[in-house]
Amino acid sequence: MCGITGYIGFREAYPIVVKGLERLEYRGYDSAGIMMFDGENIQISKTKGKVADLKKITDSEESRKKGTIGIGHTRWATHGVPNDINSHPHSSMSGDLVIVHNGIIENYDTLKKELITRGYVFQSDTDTEVLVNLIEEVKKQEGCKLGKAVQIALNQVIGAYAIAVFDKTKPNEIVVARLGSPIAIGIGKDNKEFFVASDASPFIEYTKEAIYLEDEEMAIIKLDKGIRVRKIKDDSLVVTNIQKLQLSLEQIEKGGYEHFMLKEIHEQPKAIIDTYRGRMLADQGIIKMAGVDDHLEKFLNADRIIIVACGTSWHAGLVAEYLFEDIARIPVEVEYASEFRYRNPIITDKDIVIAISQSGETADTLAAIKLAKSKGAFVFGVCNVVGSSIARETHAGAYTHAGPEIGVASTKAFTTQITVLSLIALKLGKAKGKISNSLFHSHLQTLQLIPKKIEELLAIDDQVKHIASVYKNATNCLYLGRGFNFPVALEGALKLKEISYIHAEGYPAAEMKHGPIALIDENMPIIVIATSKGHYEKVVSNIQEIKSRSGKIIAIVTQGDTTVKEIADHTIEIPETEEAFTPLLTTIPLQLLSYHIAVFLGRNVDQPRNLAKSVTVE
Ligand code: F6R
Repeated sequence: MCGITGYIGFREAYPIVVKGLERLEYRGYDSAGIMMFDGENIQISKTKGKVADLKKITDSEESRKKGTIGIGHTRWATHGVPNDINSHPHSSMSGDLVIVHNGIIENYDTLKKELITRGYVFQSDTDTEVLVNLIEEVKKQEGCKLGKAVQIALNQVIGAYAIAVFDKTKPNEIVVARLGSPIAIGIGKDNKEFFVASDASPFIEYTKEAIYLEDEEMAIIKLDKGIRVRKIKDDSLVVTNIQKLQLSLEQIEKGGYEHFMLKEIHEQPKAIIDTYRGRMLADQGIIKMAGVDDHLEKFLNADRIIIVACGTSWHAGLVAEYLFEDIARIPVEVEYASEFRYRNPIITDKDIVIAISQSGETADTLAAIKLAKSKGAFVFGVCNVVGSSIARETHAGAYTHAGPEIGVASTKAFTTQITVLSLIALKLGKAKGKISNSLFHSHLQTLQLIPKKIEELLAIDDQVKHIASVYKNATNCLYLGRGFNFPVALEGALKLKEISYIHAEGYPAAEMKHGPIALIDENMPIIVIATSKGHYEKVVSNIQEIKSRSGKIIAIVTQGDTTVKEIADHTIEIPETEEAFTPLLTTIPLQLLSYHIAVFLGRNVDQPRNLAKSVTVE
């Protein structure tokens, strides 16, 4: 949560920092702010609202834009309501130090009381203002430079942070540090300019070379001397690893779509191909996945698989439970990472924990991984963001290769996670002899056809848009599905509520009669996944039960369906496929339905209220 960015070099910092904030806005958009240094003076501009609101203030005032050094912040509020004062950057009491911070300082209250006794006065309610004053106090007490003061101060801090700090009295450097929240440092032209950001997107057009700080590392970035990375704990020097970035500018732009979410929905056929490219050799009947192949014995001897994840990734985990149990006959438990980490779960070294995360930064999932590792489990990550904290913290893993997902509502991450998990299930099913050769081969052929079928499905957009126009004013919605499509019902409901703010619930279709049926009246839209395989007849009975209570039925059916068509108010057809892979198709119309309803309601589709793309606080 929160995005931080910075620049130090020879170009004008303002456009770089502001553009960077726009690209990081998916991380939080309660407020935005920048600090520019023009060689003499610090100029801070900040406001509640989005980067666009900040630009309304700064774009017209030349003085606010001057300088070749700047830092910026886009906030997802933790301590203190989103208002102008609580927005970042924050300055120290003397005004010399300026900080931007992503994370939470848990012991901020104790530190604040201590600083107040030393005469410090605070303007905001934030933990960040405490940190910048703590650094100032250390600097004063120790008579040291900024880097050393940051190092000493951070050793007094409990919590999580990614910070960038600037000191007016030493204006040729920026100090950054990380614990639990990401920091990338871009190395620009001729080693004469440096970029700082929560991910590499703000500087992708300037450099392909970056250093990602590890937890408990800090970097002193000096214009004349370059980058020095040190351990926060003992100040020892770290040998850095410069990475070549794969990201392109095109990938992080909207490419003609009105919203990132729509672009990402449409990218799914390609994203799924990218996910299985080089791994699934359908013609040869082979699945190659280094992360699994290298630890195959562990997988084959595992007593059970525990899946930990949050939100949409947790829904992908639920689909995986059906896949692993059905195809590989391995017992699976799917856990909310946030619950798992605070239970006293029974985990042994015969368990495999699979952590699923698009961002690879979700704090709860990261904590669940650390707990599982401490209990001896082998932990496998399924992440989208390359080099992310979860990807690094796990013993092995498989990237989804979906490309950057910028819309806050997850779409292509979900379908590519399911693709990776399908490949693992098939691979293990085959290796354990739980699936016949012929079924294995036919499943590979089926999976290979999925991207084409999604392509076909995306052509129904106008039909879904029409249905959205009919139900856009609903206040409650029910999503029902069974078997493999029960998690899709949960995911459909999550998509609707998070971007349209309409209350929605997902249920296993048969559970309806145990409570939710009481909600049904003639105003209630009920989205039912009723594909031809699996429990079709049972779902048809559930649809009848809804009909007899006058509920409005939107059914997702298989092409050629006649029975449900006669009962439902609307039907959306998906191409035929194997039941196990239907979630990859049934989820598409549900994504489109949420998208169009949100657009009709004038919601901010890509940045829904109160949310952020990467949840690095618990
Ligand atoms: C929903 C959504 C969230 C995330 C959740 C986990 O559309 O985006 O529910 O799925 O915050 O995030 P990751 O997958 O990054 O760990």
